[in-house]
Amino acid sequence: MGSELIFRGGAAEPEAESSSAGPYSPKPSKPWPGPVRYLLREQRLLFVLIGMAIATLFFTFASSPSSSSPSTAAAIATLAVVPRTITAHPERRLSVGAKIPLGLKRKGLRIVVTGGAGFVGSHLVDRLMARGDSVIVVDNFFTGRKENVMHHFGNPNFELIRHDVVEPLLLEVDQIYHLACPASPVHYKKEKCESLTDVEHKTNVVGTLNMLGLAKRVGARFLLTSTSEVYGDPLQHPQVETYWGNVNPIGVRSCYDEGKRTAETLTMDYHRGAKVQVRIARIFNTYGPRMCIDDGRVVSNFVAQALRKEPMTVYGDGKQTRSFQYVSDLVEGLIRLMEGEHIGPFNLGNPGEFTMLELAKVVQETIDPNAKIVFQENTQDDPHKRKPDISKAKEQLGWEPKIPLRKGLPLMVSDFRKRIFGDQSTTTSGGSTSST
Ligand SMILES: NC(=O)c1ccc[n+]([C@@H]2O[C@H](COP(=O)([O-])OP(=O)(O)OC[C@H]3O[C@@H](n4cnc5c(N)ncnc54)[C@H](O)[C@@H]3O)[C@@H](O)[C@H]2O)c1
Repeated sequence: MGSELIFRGGAAEPEAESSSAGPYSPKPSKPWPGPVRYLLREQRLLFVLIGMAIATLFFTFASSPSSSSPSTAAAIATLAVVPRTITAHPERRLSVGAKIPLGLKRKGLRIVVTGGAGFVGSHLVDRLMARGDSVIVVDNFFTGRKENVMHHFGNPNFELIRHDVVEPLLLEVDQIYHLACPASPVHYKKEKCESLTDVEHKTNVVGTLNMLGLAKRVGARFLLTSTSEVYGDPLQHPQVETYWGNVNPIGVRSCYDEGKRTAETLTMDYHRGAKVQVRIARIFNTYGPRMCIDDGRVVSNFVAQALRKEPMTVYGDGKQTRSFQYVSDLVEGLIRLMEGEHIGPFNLGNPGEFTMLELAKVVQETIDPNAKIVFQENTQDDPHKRKPDISKAKEQLGWEPKIPLRKGLPLMVSDFRKRIFGDQSTTTSGGSTSST
């Protein structure tokens, strides 16, 4: 067979030569000797394969961080990664860029969490960091604490910026979770606190505008953490997202309620007008470790009072209802919302409904059966009922809360105990628990 081929090749030679002399020959003369011509003509596939092998070897060595100089890897990274870069993490750009050509790992996102040193924000940051994303926390520490995120210090994927969102900020990011807000009732309900309500308005309005502006500028997806307070003292129960609410625009709570309503309006306007990708979560009462002690929210109030052997303060007759969601459930809902296709708004809350007196009883069971209850006059516009309808989140986000109050409360108590007494023990009268 092989000789036949050689033969045919050889036989073609004189024919070619003779035809090249003639006027109609389409074939040029062949200057190569016979064996070389054979290789060129009959083994073309072999040459192609050898060429591919050389190219593969070259790119493999060039893209390997261990086998290339930093400048080579950086040059390849610059070519391979998306054009957007984060100035805050030059070292990360290098490592991500070096891995992408091999396609071995999911690209981590660059995410800003405003209010990330607060209660909810810090738990969200934990989840995003664990997922391998690069997280920038922007917080002015109005109610947040460095201690909430200190365990990430030293991690090159983490950065903390002390900044008030009322001032503009430019960062190259993929997603913005906008949580920054002076959310604690003790701040906005105090009399003679015009400056605090001023801060509240500025953060909700100017701060939200700044973050939406940032999202528009860098093409980031923006998630607003709104609140169930947008429903005011609801006339519809449970509350569905289509309900427009019953809010007093001039009451002591209005700076928070109306501030969040305005933030929702701005968010939707940026979506419609500037095509910013937005998400809106309406969060119902949430509790868990790292909550601000003495921040005036009912769960933290009761737990701190019972631990300190002070009577638990119930406002009004204690028959007003709330639903309490454990923080890890909320974080799961926020991430699903951000990653999903739906804008919202979505109610994120636990539909389990408790009166204030029932809540006080659960706290007694968990901390001290002898804890006392005192009644005080209620504040103006305190909603009588609050319970989320979460059908939309169930259906469109595949989300629903998993942790019941009796399971979540001991985790929070354990954290509060440590922070109030410096007690390292994780045992509560409600059972042995571990803090998250
Ligand atoms: N926890 C809840 O039950 C609940 C319920 C409804 C809505 N929310 C919303 O969720 C978000 C987080 O709430 P949280 O419970 O973690 O409150 P939090 O007070 O613990 O966290 C808010 C964070 O925002 C920061 N902050 C406030 N103003 C700022 C500003 N101008 N610039 C930068 N940072 C600023 C604070 O320092 C704090 O770290 C808020 O937007 C709140 O309105 C929470």
